[in-house]
Amino acid sequence: MRMRRLRRSESLRALVRETSVEPGDLIYPLFICPGEGIRKEISSMPGVFNLSVDEAVREAEEAARLGIGGLLLFGLPETKDEQGTGAWEDEGIVQQGLRALKQSAAAKKLVLIADVCLCEYTSHGHCGIVVETRDGFDVENDSTLDLLARAAASLARAGADIVAPSDMMDGRVGAIRRALDDENCAHTPILSYASKFASAFYGPFREAADSAPQFGDRKTYQMDGANIREAMREIDLDLLEGADMILMKPAMPYLDVIRAARERVDVPIGAYQVSGEYSMLQAAFAKGWLDRDRAILESLLGIRRAGADFIVTYFAKDAAKLLA
Ligand code: PBG
Repeated sequence: MRMRRLRRSESLRALVRETSVEPGDLIYPLFICPGEGIRKEISSMPGVFNLSVDEAVREAEEAARLGIGGLLLFGLPETKDEQGTGAWEDEGIVQQGLRALKQSAAAKKLVLIADVCLCEYTSHGHCGIVVETRDGFDVENDSTLDLLARAAASLARAGADIVAPSDMMDGRVGAIRRALDDENCAHTPILSYASKFASAFYGPFREAADSAPQFGDRKTYQMDGANIREAMREIDLDLLEGADMILMKPAMPYLDVIRAARERVDVPIGAYQVSGEYSMLQAAFAKGWLDRDRAILESLLGIRRAGADFIVTYFAKDAAKLLA
């Protein structure tokens, strides 16, 4: 047997290729900020911007032309407070963005996914309501659920095709499902970040979304990176509560978790190639240490091979151009 026989030409290699990446498998994150004509680059994420609504619409139209599957929307509110009001008020920045995107014939062809979380909107940067306790503070689970449910319903009313809770409070998928059903949004699917690990690789995102916790960390709600069995329990619970799809995050350091999820459940699975994964590749490209085009596509192919149906990635536009 000679394995090299099937590697002799590009057409032979193409014939026996087991995994593919298509632009339609990719979801492009956008960070929407107040103002007009604003396009502010994030210093730790070259090529990624805070965009005012008008600029976000332009960016979305370009993504649609490139055949990208959808957008994941985050917001930077004008002001922040303890309750994260900006996340759930109907005039919130992402709600405004959704209404504008739905006005654009090109942009509305994209699947518009709204991230549901409070951390970009709270003054303390945590993903829920913070209360003082005898030995410090706690991020309160159950009082947060109501606000997350209101945020999800408000985003669905504004035009989100999918809502994606990323907060990791217990019971939020059920609370969001009930709120959506009560608000005539029974058709809106939930993509839950079912297993989201407390990761160092979110660092650059916290600059992009201005959402770094002002004290403490997220380890009491996001998962410990050592635990794969616990990740499976998180997935089972989210599906029981009514999640339609799950999102795994981060991607590259957790490919085994994506594979285990793929073998366990039959719902569609997405994976999030997070900010730190993007920034470390960009840093290597800037140094000339890696071949940019090949490394981008190989990183995405690995995530698909692990079992993800679709990938949230800041490389979506670059990859779509390379695949064209
Ligand atoms: C909000 C949220 C975060 C990310 C997605 N949604 C930040 C966090 O949990 O700290 C990270 C995405 C990325 O790093 O690209 N909770």
